[in-house]
Amino acid sequence: MRVAMMTAAVLVCASSASAGAPTFSKDVAPILFKSCVECHRPSAMAPMSLMTYEDARPWARAIRQKVATRQMPPWGADPTVGKYSNDVSLKQAEIDTIAAWVDGGAPEGNRAELPAAPTFAEGWSIGKPDFVFTMQQPFTVPADGTVPYMYVSIPTNLKEDIWIKAVELKPTDRRVVHHIISNIVEGNGKAPDPEPKLTRDPSRKEVGGGLGGLVPGRLYGEFEEGVARKIPAGADIVLQMHYTTIGQRVVDQTQIGVVLAREPPAKLRAEGGGAIPNMQFVIPPGDPNYEVVGKQTFDRDTYLSSMYPHMHVRGKDATYTILYPDGREEVVLRVPKYDFNWQLSYKLAEPKFIPKGSTLKVSFHYDNSTANRFNPDPTAAVRWGDQTWEEMMLGYYGTIELPGSTATRTRQR
Ligand code: HEC
Repeated sequence: MRVAMMTAAVLVCASSASAGAPTFSKDVAPILFKSCVECHRPSAMAPMSLMTYEDARPWARAIRQKVATRQMPPWGADPTVGKYSNDVSLKQAEIDTIAAWVDGGAPEGNRAELPAAPTFAEGWSIGKPDFVFTMQQPFTVPADGTVPYMYVSIPTNLKEDIWIKAVELKPTDRRVVHHIISNIVEGNGKAPDPEPKLTRDPSRKEVGGGLGGLVPGRLYGEFEEGVARKIPAGADIVLQMHYTTIGQRVVDQTQIGVVLAREPPAKLRAEGGGAIPNMQFVIPPGDPNYEVVGKQTFDRDTYLSSMYPHMHVRGKDATYTILYPDGREEVVLRVPKYDFNWQLSYKLAEPKFIPKGSTLKVSFHYDNSTANRFNPDPTAAVRWGDQTWEEMMLGYYGTIELPGSTATRTRQR
């Protein structure tokens, strides 16, 4: 009896070892469905679909390489610094599973073990919007080449303030839009010029900040329960469009849908925030690690909820630190390898209380040397400017105001 049991135990071990190489159906598909197919599916932004075994098999080696180096899914925050609610990075065990699957010959396994594929809303992901704001005229994305960032203004025609709890940016064709950054700006009573521009109109002050921290591949967002963002009457929306070409001409007319908060404004906590700039820098030619620092002191209690560092192609790394009035310092975000192509917003899992008198310090480094393969000219002394061959230093941040506070986004530019 004892012997028989031992034999059985040995047999179980042996069979699980031989069946131990991960398969697509059982082990890999769940990871791809959770972390990749939002972008890697037909008609989405990424160049190929990873929805099925047939789709993914030819990419096995590339997938292994991109996940092992943590280039995919795109995520830049140092995990030892903080926790972020929108962290999409893979766990080490998931990376190991994918690597073992590829090393084992990338087998399909048993189709019966395949989980249900995720479904994606055809219309609006946020549900039926209460308001839809549409680009005044379509923009034609050429078949090939690089399209510079375009700034497109959309009037809201709002007669009174609204408080929104969800927002979605809906391009006509998702494949040609890498990302969109949206800002609410002061209206001036006239419909803004419908022509897309190469630079943002500096005479229009930002009033409501961005429409949420929307990352590439996920162009919609909902604020936390009881939190809303105000769009003031008469405001305009400015979209910074990063179009990418896909080998065929595509016409885009992006729409913005918003869902209103149901609670009365007095009961809501305002989503606010701002941008900490430093426009005074000159990055010396060839400097591989030039630091530029910006600071802002808060004159009221608030909660820090998100951060979004913005630099151009010489951007190298970014660190956000809270300097508390009692002298304590706390690093809340470190992006060790800033990537201009993946400008991400990092949402704190737990918004940080910032007492009045605290300072948010933003430190960026720039690589103006030949070692930076994106550097268009290492011999140039680089100053602030809108063009990608110039630089920017903008430490965007989001806040959630205390109940009853009327403060909204401030910008010191
Ligand atoms: C936010 C959208 C997004 C997510 C999520 C994402 N990808 Fe990607 N992926 C892209 C885009 C866009 C590209 C092409 C441009 C680039 O490489 O940055 C790409 C490129 C790739 C490539 C290289 C393709 C080539 O042409 O060589 C691989 C491999 C890849 N992704 C695998 C994955 C895997 C595996 C996951 C999930 C673990 C994933 N990606 C998650 C958007 C995404």
